[in-house]
Amino acid sequence: MCARLISVDEAAESGWIAVCDLDRLQAETIVRIAGRDLLVIWNDGYVVACDRACPHEQADLGLGQVTAGRLLCPRHAASFDLRDGAIAAGWPSPPLRLYPAKVEGGQIWIEAGERRPGR
Ligand code: FES
Repeated sequence: MCARLISVDEAAESGWIAVCDLDRLQAETIVRIAGRDLLVIWNDGYVVACDRACPHEQADLGLGQVTAGRLLCPRHAASFDLRDGAIAAGWPSPPLRLYPAKVEGGQIWIEAGERRPGR
């Protein structure tokens, strides 16, 4: 997997932030957001925004892989459910933090200031 770094308007400290076009996210799967340490992931028809740092030992999840609805950490291979951030059973770690994300007008938007409730 290859994560691409993009810049987000630093003035947008709260509320919804435009990240990139849906076409770009679909082509690259994961986009790292500069200055925010977040990942935006296209997974099987929906968009997910999450922390870039693994909650286990802070590995860069932008170097991980997305498989069957799970994000696989590149360091110790724990995986996270992209629907609610839950870590695979047996790992002594909190879940991956997710953020509200949506597609509107062909654009990906995230709300980086709030936690997305689990589904
Ligand atoms: S740092 Fe991600 S599983 Fe250990």
